[in-house]
Order: sequence, then structure tokens, then C-alpha cells
Amino acid sequence: MSSYNFYDSISREKYTPDVNQWKPKVGLFNMEPYPVDFPMENIIKRQASMWRYEEALPIHKKEPTISLGEGMTPLIVLDDKNPHFLVKMDYLMPTGSFKDRGAAMLMAKAKEMGAQSVIADSSGNAGTSIAAYCARANIECHVYTPSSTSEKKLAQIKAHGAQLHLIPGTREQTAVAAKEAVEKEGIFYASHVYNPYFYEGTKTFAFEIWEQLHYTAPDTLILPVGNGTLLLGAYIGFNDLKRAGAIQKMPKIIGVQSEHCAPIEKAYRENISVSSVDNKGTKAEGIAIGYPPRGDQIIEAVKHTNGTIIIAPENQIETAGKDLANKGFYVEPTTAATYAAYRNYEQNIAKTETVVMPLCGSGLKK
Ligand SMILES: Cc1ncc(COP(=O)(O)O)c(C=O)c1O
Repeated sequence: MSSYNFYDSISREKYTPDVNQWKPKVGLFNMEPYPVDFPMENIIKRQASMWRYEEALPIHKKEPTISLGEGMTPLIVLDDKNPHFLVKMDYLMPTGSFKDRGAAMLMAKAKEMGAQSVIADSSGNAGTSIAAYCARANIECHVYTPSSTSEKKLAQIKAHGAQLHLIPGTREQTAVAAKEAVEKEGIFYASHVYNPYFYEGTKTFAFEIWEQLHYTAPDTLILPVGNGTLLLGAYIGFNDLKRAGAIQKMPKIIGVQSEHCAPIEKAYRENISVSSVDNKGTKAEGIAIGYPPRGDQIIEAVKHTNGTIIIAPENQIETAGKDLANKGFYVEPTTAATYAAYRNYEQNIAKTETVVMPLCGSGLKK
């Protein structure tokens, strides 16, 4: 039996993770902090993947994983003119996005809990990830996506043998349809938004940066934020390193939202709780989330690091994407949006600061 617990964000009651329960009686599930350790003398002897940090992951040591070799993506300088600005190349992951970190962990846990079939909802990348790891784990998979999702992502989901459910309307309507199916069919909800194990996978983004920076944290992280699976994962990961005494200070987290869909930036600026906004249509489809359930939690994390939330101007996304491609990086528009926002904000960052920005998704999926 798993010794890793969830707790709800309001009453702080403890729960044992269970395939049939995706939400507590009140609030949202979070992972109870458990002891973590980073014994580098052992870690460096292991395979170059996210699983090398096993003393800081909620897995049982001898458990076979369903790995596709995810993690340990390169961290390199974007442009020699600014040697302190580094990019983490998560678009080199098995399915072409950082979501593989979370999906690999979530599906490893789903298999351990004996799930036979799962439902996931996604704007595309999380769905392709869950579909791939279900194929690897031999688990039946249903993916719900908005009918407007790019053809290439849909083809990828189908190629992995998942059953695709195309939902007309917004990303939120897709989430409602998926939850209805979960309740009706009693199938495991492999949700990257609600299930804390997903964040236990995305947190390895932080561990790898720490190792690649010779056991230090960067000063600043520039991260896209829609539902916050990377932002909260990075926060949890650096917090784990701090809890273990491996770093002294958290990096500042700067979250990037789209100018045309920015519920978290609005709430942050107005100092209020996150509420639903209309998605006015944006090229940055990965962060076009009108109502992120973990919005308030994201703001709390950002504030705790003395960070902030900034906007990606819609009319600068295309040029930012072309500029990245001209440097050799072919990424999708959500990453271009993150770079566009960084360029507007750059003058607020000291030249000596080490800054890391992820290249989250492959341009081949456009
Ligand atoms: C390429 C890319 N970047 C960033 C994000 C944002 O991730 P999140 O919604 O978890 O904040 C996504 C989400 O789908 C994505 O696909």
C-alpha cells in the first residue's frame, strides 16, 4: 500500500490516493510533504532521466516504471550575447512536451493502483502524453479535447490507440464533459489539473535545473501558466530542494499569461481571488485557460518566491517564435508567447541574474 497521502486544501484532512476519487469533499487534493533526499553520489550513477531522483519521488524503489526515457533535457544558453539566459529543452521529451514528466508519474501511480482504464481532458499536449503512457502501461485511454485542437495533436493521440472524444466549444466545456464521463462510468480520472501525482512528475524540472547548474538554483524562472502544472511543479521541486537543505533560496517565479486570456494575471494585479474570464482567442493555446482551478494556489506560490505574473502581448508572439526559430529552436506558439513576455520584462532583471525559461512544446505539433 502507498504511504504517500493527499490532503485537501481547505480542511487539511488526509486522504489515501484512490482510483475512484479525484476530488476531496472540499477544496482540491494536494500531496502531503514526505521526506526527500538528494544523495548525489548515488544519483549521478543512475540513468539520465527524471527517475534518477528516486529518493525525492513518491515511488517504491523496486517498482518497475513505465518510462519512455523522459527527463534530463539539455539546459543551454539561448544566445551567446546573454550567457545568463538559459533555456530548458523540454520539447525534446518523448511526446514533444514537458507534460511527459507529469504523465509518466501519474500513469506509473495509476498502474500501481490497478487502474484498467483512464479518462483525461486536455488542450492537446497533456492528452498526447497520457495517451502515450497508457499505451506503454497497457491501460485503456479516453482523451477529451476541444474540437478545435490541432490536427497533429489529434493524430498523435489516435496513433497511441486512445479513444478520442471531440467536444465543441471551450476548453472548460471539454473539462465538464470529461468529469461527467468520470462520474458516470466510474473510470480513473487521469487529470493533470486535479491529480497531485502529476505535479510530483513535473517537479523534476526543478531537480534537473539544480543538478545542471552544479547544485544551485537559478535566480529567476520565466514560466508559461495556464493550469499551472509546470509552474506549481517547479515550485514544489525547488521547495523540496530547500526542505532537504540542497538550496538556501527559492528562485523568483515569473508566470506568463496570454493577453487574451489572463485570469491569474488579473486576480494577481487586482489582489482578488481568481475568477473565470473569456478566452478572446490567442495563438498561445497551451495557456488559454479561462478558469484555472488552482489559480489561487498559483498566485500564492508566485508571491512566496517574490515573483510576479506578466502578460504576453498577442501581436508579438509570431515574431518571438520566428526569432527562436532563427536561433535554431522550433517550438510551438505557447513557448513563443513566453519568450515575447520575457523580452518585454527583461529590463527588470539584473544582467548578472541566472534566468531559466523552458522550451515547452515542439513546433512540429503546430
Ligand atoms: C506547450 C505548452 N506550454 C505551456 C503549457 C501550460 O501548462 P499549464 O496549463 O499546466 O500551466 C501547456 C499546456 O498545455 C503547453 O502545452
